Amino acid sequence: MQDILIIWAENFIRWLHVIAGVCWIGSSFYFMHLDYSLKKRPGLPEEANGEAWQVHGGGFYNMVKYLVAPARMPDELTWFKWEAYATWFSGLALLTVVYYFSASLYMIDPRVMALTPATAIGLSVATLIAGWVVYDLLCRSPLGENEMGLSLVGFVFIVACAWGFTQIFSPRGAYMQIGALIGTIMAANVLMVIIPGQRKVVADLIAGRTPDANHGKRGKQRSTHNNYLTLPVIFVMISNHYPLAYATRYSWVILALVLIMGAVIRHFYNTRHKGLGDPWWTWGVTVACAIGVIWLSTLGPANGKRTEPATGAAVKFAAVEEIVTSRCSMCHAEEPVWDGIKVAPKGVMLDTPERIRLHAREIAANVVWSSAMPPSNITDLSDDERQILANWAAGARSLR
Ligand code: HEC
Repeated sequence: MQDILIIWAENFIRWLHVIAGVCWIGSSFYFMHLDYSLKKRPGLPEEANGEAWQVHGGGFYNMVKYLVAPARMPDELTWFKWEAYATWFSGLALLTVVYYFSASLYMIDPRVMALTPATAIGLSVATLIAGWVVYDLLCRSPLGENEMGLSLVGFVFIVACAWGFTQIFSPRGAYMQIGALIGTIMAANVLMVIIPGQRKVVADLIAGRTPDANHGKRGKQRSTHNNYLTLPVIFVMISNHYPLAYATRYSWVILALVLIMGAVIRHFYNTRHKGLGDPWWTWGVTVACAIGVIWLSTLGPANGKRTEPATGAAVKFAAVEEIVTSRCSMCHAEEPVWDGIKVAPKGVMLDTPERIRLHAREIAANVVWSSAMPPSNITDLSDDERQILANWAAGARSLR
């Protein structure tokens, strides 16, 4: 019963997390677009920075932006913060249910570092906090005045963290950890900088004081960072089903390229929405990075060396079946016998010859090209056995 509850908790929390994320990103993209499409025109109130006309859902909207504040505070103000908080809290809950509850399966790989579950969880929480603190200090330091300098240092910092995590956690744990860190930075930007700044401005206005313009500047800086981090963080979140991204040797370099792709794609749209033309070169960079990502993923699994299929090697299917049965089907079967696994993970069953054949490509992606399976090599798949699977998968694919 407990297992069923955990599985459903995961399902429902994931549902909430995706919905909250959609709302957060949706409102963030909407306001970035709105901000950039504002136009000045004569006749706007003096405090107004620009306006935009939009049509949606059968009505016309006239949005006017007041940079500091309107002359009179409206009685009702809609704040945008719960989208961010709900995304972060549901993300933390999901991290707990999926990763912290099954730390030895998902976070720990003794070939990387022999951690106990408690240490792994402790390190994960500690590095989330430390990562935010360092980022926040960087933004507040004199470097924070220099937009380009800060972006470069921030980029190097995130990539360094990604590399560092691959030295501590399992490949999959490391990837989720960097995703969680980026998500934490984004949510903390809202909670610790953007919203408090806005609150101070509103309080000053109500009290008749002149608000400090730095609050607005700082808020805008963090909100721009969030905008540029959105696409990469989503890539990481969906990548846990793509071992070529997280369980190959250069997963941290792949992440660096994805950060660049996400940023230049945003740059394309931001520039376009500002009416400053279409910087098509950004798509060239994106494609080049994508090619780089694909190439990097072929350079071998995260742990161990790349297994090239031997040309002309004959593989008896019986040998393949033997390996899969002894290394995989304790988890991947109609009735798994592995402690804690109640149903075949992701519905992947490898307990009959037909099912093994059917999954040839997935087996290659998870076992030969990457080191995603067996998790942490928990069932001691040997190099020789990987070689046999590699030969078979290469042949099996050409037979299709
Ligand atoms: C200790 C249990 C265990 C063993 C042993 C194991 N797996 Fe898995 N496998 C899992 C879990 C758990 C997942 C689900 C991962 C996730 O949630 O994304 C999984 C997922 C998969 C997937 C689907 C990946 C996806 O995200 O779609 C494939 C394919 C796979 N395993 C193949 C194998 C092969 C081949 C072996 C043997 C060489 C193997 N597994 C051994 C636990 C195991």
